[in-house]
Amino acid sequence: MQTDKVRVLFVGDIVGDAGRKIVIDSLDYLKNNYFYDISIANIENIAGGFGITKETYDYIEPYFDAFTTGNHVWDKKDIVINIDNMPKLAKPFNMPNTKGKSFVIIEKNNVKILIATFLGRIFMNPVDNPFILINQITQNPELPAIKVIDFHAEATSEKQAFGWYCDGKVSACLGTHTHVQTNDEKILPNGTAYITDVGLTGCHSGVIGFRKDAIIDKFITYMPTRFDVCKEDLRLNACIIDVNIYNGKAVNIEKINISST
Ligand code: FE2
Repeated sequence: MQTDKVRVLFVGDIVGDAGRKIVIDSLDYLKNNYFYDISIANIENIAGGFGITKETYDYIEPYFDAFTTGNHVWDKKDIVINIDNMPKLAKPFNMPNTKGKSFVIIEKNNVKILIATFLGRIFMNPVDNPFILINQITQNPELPAIKVIDFHAEATSEKQAFGWYCDGKVSACLGTHTHVQTNDEKILPNGTAYITDVGLTGCHSGVIGFRKDAIIDKFITYMPTRFDVCKEDLRLNACIIDVNIYNGKAVNIEKINISST
């Protein structure tokens, strides 16, 4: 760790076994080339493309310091039973009546970092208003100055608006959920690192990580279709963010898009 900065690795949505494979295969490269201090990953799609199980959590747990989630977090019944045994997992903050931790605080070299997940509401199922609920984090002086927020949302407009609303209040507002890495990473004027979507960690030869033939069939026939994770063209999408440890402001954001070969 540099004396005045903490370097954060944030890995975009890990989808299924293909995503788990490319993450594990990439970790040595990432460590040796980016020298990050803490690591976070979105794992809401880690179990078969939909949801999280205790088995998949336990598999990925040793490699990261914290995990964010999303709209599919409750898809597998297994997580409802086991979420209290997943201490690194930040459930969606704006689902206040559900089980799980509203945020995760990790500590490295005496530096504390808060990680939270917020869900968007445009083209998504109903949840509480993230613009209002995030004030519970940003206006609480007892929480760490360094805050990394995963904004898991569909609409780019909502993501951009939330990023601007968070500017100067959190260290990073990183979009997830659409599984396509965007080209708009930046440091907003008041010191918040922003990207509309970090991207997909998994198969890049399908449709957002799933076999394209089944999804095309569904668009043609409207019939219920089984979505299976595809296995080819594995890529890891991520961001590196450098944050000043004294004031929590980001000074650099860099996106990563690497293949397994
Ligand atoms: Fe999602």
